[in-house]
Amino acid sequence: MNWIATHPWAYPALETLHLVGVALLLGNLVLFEMRVWGAQPSLPVRPLAKLALGVALAGFALAAVTGTVMLASQWAELQANRALWLKAGLLVAAGANAAAFHLRGGLDKIDRVARLQTALSMGLWLLVVACGRFIAYV
Ligand code: HEM
Repeated sequence: MNWIATHPWAYPALETLHLVGVALLLGNLVLFEMRVWGAQPSLPVRPLAKLALGVALAGFALAAVTGTVMLASQWAELQANRALWLKAGLLVAAGANAAAFHLRGGLDKIDRVARLQTALSMGLWLLVVACGRFIAYV
């Protein structure tokens, strides 16, 4: 897959799609999490979650596929990259936090714990973004 890294536009195209995925993920999470924090209380939580979290998940899938292809195309250079491994750990933590939110029924129980979980979620995803950016500089 090394040709992708040297092709004139394949890698930038993948990076573009990667960032579209990131935007869909973060943008929709912010909407949903603001509702959990008390914004627009008249908006029903479940239909909003179905739409916003569905699009967020699609964005994550796009980022995961494009990220995996970028990684495979320059594995030799990136395998020792500390920002990449920190990002991988943060991705696992963000996934576990999202699973914990849903397993305790967070969509039907908007309380202090749910608000803490969504705040943690936003912090973790922002750190994932920062580590993604730092891959090129460490
Ligand atoms: C399985 C999932 C993922 C893998 C394997 C992956 C891998 C990568 C790789 C290889 C790069 C390119 C680094 C470079 O060449 O400079 C990158 C960049 C980046 N990633 Fe990911 N990524 C994944 C998911 C995500 C997610 C979910 C986010 C955000 C929430 C994210 C945010 C970023 C950002 C902001 C960049 C920098 C893009 C740029 O500088 O143009 N990544 N990622």
